[in-house]
Amino acid sequence: MTTTTSYVSDVDTDGRVPDALVNEYRENGFVRIRGILGPDEVERFRTAAQAYLEAHRSESLEKRGVFSQLVNVWQRDATMRELTFHRRLGRVAEQLAGFPLRLWHDHMLVKEPHNNAATEFHQDRPYWPHANDRLSLSAWIALVDVPPERGCMTFLPKTQHLTGLRPQDLHDEDDLFSIEPSLRWLPRVTVPLRAGDCTFHSSYTCHMALPNRTDQARLAHVVIYMDEATTYSGDKHVVTDPLGLKPGDRLDGDTFPRPWA
Ligand code: SIN
Ligand code: NI
Repeated sequence: MTTTTSYVSDVDTDGRVPDALVNEYRENGFVRIRGILGPDEVERFRTAAQAYLEAHRSESLEKRGVFSQLVNVWQRDATMRELTFHRRLGRVAEQLAGFPLRLWHDHMLVKEPHNNAATEFHQDRPYWPHANDRLSLSAWIALVDVPPERGCMTFLPKTQHLTGLRPQDLHDEDDLFSIEPSLRWLPRVTVPLRAGDCTFHSSYTCHMALPNRTDQARLAHVVIYMDEATTYSGDKHVVTDPLGLKPGDRLDGDTFPRPWA
C-alpha cells in the first residue's frame, strides 16, 4: 500500500473547521479532521519523522513492542517542531476545546511493520500530573495512510465524561473493562486515516489502536494540548520530573508554549 495523493480538507484558510465537526467532538469526545496537513507538508514531516526515528529509536520509552514512543520531539528537531507548533492544528484544537490551550507535550508513536501488538483501551488523563484543568485533548496525525490493518485508532463515543478512574494498563486488553465493566457494551468506532488527516480525542475518551499487520511502519505524530490554566498535581511524569515543580505550580512558560496564539 502506498501513501495517498488525493487531498480533501475539512479546514478553511483561517484554520477553522465547520461547527458540525465541533459539535461532533463535543458530543462524542473525538472527531476526524481530514486534510489538516497538505500533501507537501505530509511529505516534509514524514521525511523528518523517519529520520528522527532512525536516529532515536533506541530512546523509546515503550520497550514492549506496542510502539516506539519518542517524547518531546519538538525540543530536538526543528522540522518536527514546526508540526507540533503548527498554527492550523493549534487553532482547530482551541476551537474544539472552546478555551485557550498550551502544549503539554508531543510524541511520535510508531508501530513498526508487523508489530502485531495493539495499544489496548485506556484514557490518557489518568497518566498525567495535572490539576485544575478543563478537558484537554490530543491531535493524532497520520503521516502515512493508516487503515485499520496498519493500526488506526478506535474510540468509545461519549466516554469523555468518565473521570476518576485509575491509570489503565495499555498492554492489557481487559484492564479498562475490569475497572468499568459497562464499557464492554458500548459501540466501538474505528477511524481509518489518510496521510495528512488527524483525529482529535479528549483526554478522558476511551481509546485503543489496532496492531500493525502491514509491511510499512505506522507513523503517527501526536500533539497533546492542555488547559492553559493547568497546574502541577505533584504526581510523577517523565515530562515534569526534571523541572523541580511544586504542587500547585502553573504548567506554563517555555516548556509549555502556545505558539499558535
Ligand atoms: C497509538 O497510537 O498506538 C495510541 C495513541 C494513544 O493512545 O493516544
Ligand atoms: Ni492514549
